[in-house]
Amino acid sequence: MGLTRVSGLLFGGDYNPEQWPEHVWDEDVRLMAEAGVNMATVAVFSWSRLEPRPGEYDFGWLDRVMDLLHANGVAADLATATATPPPWLVREHPQVLPVDATGTRLDFGSRQSYCPSSPVFRTATVRLARAMAERYGDHPALAMWHISNEYADHTLECFCEESARHFRRWLRERHGSVDGLNAAWGTSCWGQHYTAFDQVNPPRKAPGPVNPAQLLDWRRFCSDALLECFELEREVLREVTPEIPVTTNFMSVLHGLDYWKWAGAEDVVSDDAYPDPADPTSHVTVALSYDLMRSLRRQPWILLEQAASAVSWREVNAPKPPGMMRLHSLQAVAHGADGAMFFQWRQAKYGPEKFHSALLPHGGVASRGWRDTLALGADLKRLAEVAGTPTTAHVALVLGWDSWWGLEAPESMPSNRLRLKELLQAWYGPLHAAGVAVDLVPPLGDLSGYRVVIAPNLYMCTGEQAAWLEAFPGHLVVGPFSGVVDSDDQVHEGGAPGPLRALLGVTVDEFWPLPEGTVQPLRLAGRVVPARTWAEWLRVEDASGDTLGDAFGGTEVLARYEGGDLDGQVAITRRGKAVYLGCLPEDVTPVLTEVLAAAGVEPVAVVPEGVEATRRGDHLFLLNHTTDPVKVDLAEPGTDLLTGRDLAGPIEIPGRDAVVLRLANSGARRTDTESPLTNEGER
Ligand code: GAL
Repeated sequence: MGLTRVSGLLFGGDYNPEQWPEHVWDEDVRLMAEAGVNMATVAVFSWSRLEPRPGEYDFGWLDRVMDLLHANGVAADLATATATPPPWLVREHPQVLPVDATGTRLDFGSRQSYCPSSPVFRTATVRLARAMAERYGDHPALAMWHISNEYADHTLECFCEESARHFRRWLRERHGSVDGLNAAWGTSCWGQHYTAFDQVNPPRKAPGPVNPAQLLDWRRFCSDALLECFELEREVLREVTPEIPVTTNFMSVLHGLDYWKWAGAEDVVSDDAYPDPADPTSHVTVALSYDLMRSLRRQPWILLEQAASAVSWREVNAPKPPGMMRLHSLQAVAHGADGAMFFQWRQAKYGPEKFHSALLPHGGVASRGWRDTLALGADLKRLAEVAGTPTTAHVALVLGWDSWWGLEAPESMPSNRLRLKELLQAWYGPLHAAGVAVDLVPPLGDLSGYRVVIAPNLYMCTGEQAAWLEAFPGHLVVGPFSGVVDSDDQVHEGGAPGPLRALLGVTVDEFWPLPEGTVQPLRLAGRVVPARTWAEWLRVEDASGDTLGDAFGGTEVLARYEGGDLDGQVAITRRGKAVYLGCLPEDVTPVLTEVLAAAGVEPVAVVPEGVEATRRGDHLFLLNHTTDPVKVDLAEPGTDLLTGRDLAGPIEIPGRDAVVLRLANSGARRTDTESPLTNEGER
């Protein structure tokens, strides 16, 4: 049994039959069956059709859709339909509509037109979710619940009075008293001392920079407020249909929502990913989000949405050239997805997404797109045995939302150029290129089984988190501007890296942010390389804080700056197994290579540039993202599930093509592997 009751890999997409006359539905399900579609996401934006008037339901059309799907072997990922409130709700209760930071109420006419804190909205969603669960709980097509849709896509926050009251309740819970809030927010600065909670507002537009601690709590609150909306619906679904798994589709590495918290509240992680076909590096960026999705619940996940070809919301919407749609789908599976689904099944005739690609394009069954759909359906069937298989990684990247929110507070940081996604990618890119499997972990997460932990940035670091890293017996790498503030965004006494000082054996004397276009050179692995964006004036110290000068105590200097303002100063250090970088070298590969070698971390396979190698259980995925054929020397023989051919030794993989090997000897080899961390899938 997989993540849902559907066996094998999931294939299909968002299906919006309400946008089409019923006679089209027969063709839809016939073609779905032909393409091997086994799951459709339905009713995502159907609230106004399902409940046209308050409490009055029109389920007839959806009954027929559900029956048709089931009759054709297609399971339903059934939405609770609450992603867009119907016009009657927002007209009768205008306070349901969200308000922006300037106080402007946003009108109806798009989607997600709701205030996350609105009791009217919440009550109406729960009522609809219950009606859906009672209506379809026993329907044989129902395989998974899809609550709302892409929370925070358009509406992450609302600044209305209702939200303000909700925020104050949340603050009272967090800080206990208004004095507690004053202390945490440092309101003595700029005369912001509050004497009552009802004086506190959301961070609406103000004359100057808003208190960053207020912004940080606001980010936490907004993630929690939407999570409450999700949980209210989930409670109803769990009560009525406890056996049906619940998901909501995530949006890859999204700043607005703390996905560690969110993933803990759902049964299955699902993601929507739209790598830009025009960006030659997008397969690397998206691989990081796929690894995050797998790590969130340490189990396989579902790619619930991707584009068959072009999207409709970029400046220029590049189509996917031949081979890319298949390759990107296989890539998600290679990174732990148990399904490759799409937005959407049939290309729309009207609306803002009428030019968005689909599995069944405007051109119908004669189109290139439809041929690709048929071919992918067949390929995913061939890979059925991969479903549920685990991924093993010995390297973990630390990602924490609190720290991210603190780091990217506008208007109060030494530099706005330190962006967490870029910092993560600076490490992930070379790991990906080296064919090394990577998990992500939250601060204080379980580190057992990892040999290397990399914190590209831990701007916010508590004493507890420092102790967590100290207790890690493997190799640790900490990136710049870490250990700077506590959980209230207040600077650690004595300066950065605060509670990490004893572990890392350095103190930051002064931050040295680099404006765009400037570099600070350093000598690394025998070469002078530029650091961009950021550098630091470091002092090397022993654990007691005594400066050791060039004696270094337990701290070795791995690299020094050469030239520039920081000429001769320390750039990279190591104390025991902990490496600290006070800068972001253009390429961290030399540091990484040394750490991986010391930790005994091996690549999944040795592959040429542009080829991605991942392992799932006994399966080796080799994905050629280049447009040229490449040669790969197989370390062990296997059977390519895509072609059925037995392969061994040197093989050639054509441009934008892939090989998925069931390894012949892996059963034996696996028992030899020394205590790997296994991300258990459903077995
Ligand atoms: C997603 C959304 C879908 C569709 C898609 C288009 O963000 O969930 O409903 O709009 O984007 O790329």
